[in-house]
Amino acid sequence: MYKLAKTLIGTVALTLLGGLANAQDTKKFPGIGRAATPAEVAAWDIDVRPDFKGLPKGSGTAEQGQELWEAKCASCHGVFGESNEVFTPIVGGTTAKDIKTGRVASLTDPNQPQRSTLMRLSTLSSLYDYVYRAMPWNAPRSLSADETYALVAYMLSLGEIVPEDFTLSHENVHEVQALLPNRNGTTTEHGMWTVAGRPDVQGNPCMTDCPTDGKITSFLPGFARNAHENITEQNRIFGPFRGADTTKPPVKKLPGAGFVAPVAATSATATAATTVAAGANAATLQALFQKHNCTACHAPAAKGVGPSIAEVAKKYKEQDVVAKLATKVKVGGAGAWGSIPMPPHAQMSDTDITNLVKWMLTGS
Ligand code: HEC
Ligand code: HEC
Repeated sequence: MYKLAKTLIGTVALTLLGGLANAQDTKKFPGIGRAATPAEVAAWDIDVRPDFKGLPKGSGTAEQGQELWEAKCASCHGVFGESNEVFTPIVGGTTAKDIKTGRVASLTDPNQPQRSTLMRLSTLSSLYDYVYRAMPWNAPRSLSADETYALVAYMLSLGEIVPEDFTLSHENVHEVQALLPNRNGTTTEHGMWTVAGRPDVQGNPCMTDCPTDGKITSFLPGFARNAHENITEQNRIFGPFRGADTTKPPVKKLPGAGFVAPVAATSATATAATTVAAGANAATLQALFQKHNCTACHAPAAKGVGPSIAEVAKKYKEQDVVAKLATKVKVGGAGAWGSIPMPPHAQMSDTDITNLVKWMLTGS
């Protein structure tokens, strides 16, 4: 009832707003759209620039950041930001000397195995903006401004750029910027383009006779196409793109503007299992698996951040483990497959979790 009332109020409010805005816009473009409301603009206007324009006010301690990190980030990026075989490390490769020079020496060292985020980072704003905008990968835009401060402080403390008891805030970001190991690492003098003092990337908006299709100029070799299994099923459900269906040959022609990829709801493997959990069929469960972003870490048969569905089914074949595994999904944990933890899914219903675990155990 409450929900219904809310929906109705929402609709009425939107209609009113729409009506008001339309009155202004219809003059110029009759019948097309309406002006965005200030709240709508504010919701998108979250970019933080190198001079910290756009940075929300707030603060967070490295200690708070550590707790958040272990709960929300460590599963993919490692407890110490060292990441794992799937992602590149966030922390590592920077020294106290780099903090003095502002240029990371290991970037030019051929023996440095991987380039970490902190090695490459030249503007603190980028780290803040990126995390606030895009992380955690399975729940972008879920962090508050203060949580983001805390997480950035923690990452910097792991890199020994700030002390473990540091508090990062909008007031001291400039001081911290001046400590970034690679703050002097940007250049436009790389000889790739003539830049004449201007940024080397410039857009020329096309206004007439614009091409409607992209031209494909390079391809993955056929044998590599499905190396990580169906990419469509592993992408988050955020934004229009879902990645290519790598179980099929590449498309002949790219879809044109306005393309919205369908969410992969069924796959050849999913339709095989039909008699799982009561009341839910395999296609529904597959969609649910994707909706809860389990696909971000569990592919059908290839190892991802977590074990594949096939591996889980094989390991627990004919064992009575549904309750045990459901609890694990709910509260998270590590150890059964390695040291990478699965994050908790406290907000999911027990029924959904149980159904998904049963479905996984069929090996679909
Ligand atoms: C489900 C896995 C996952 C989780 C959980 C996750 N990330 Fe990420 N993170 C990624 C992926 C994947 C990328 C690379 C994204 C890309 O390149 O488009 C990434 C990239 C990043 C980067 C940029 C790395 C670089 O050098 O380009 C930062 C910083 C980062 N994550 C921080 C965080 C923080 C902080 C959290 C916790 C709030 C978090 N991540 C949680 C998967 C994850
Ligand atoms: C951020 C990555 C991530 C996400 C998202 C994720 N998992 Fe996991 N999952 C893991 C990791 C890592 C493990 C291995 C944990 C271990 O070694 O004990 C795992 C293990 C499991 C296991 C086996 C547990 C065991 O003890 O053998 C099940 C079942 C499972 N996940 C189900 C799910 C379901 C269902 C979802 C979606 C609601 C989900 N996972 C989302 C990373 C993830």
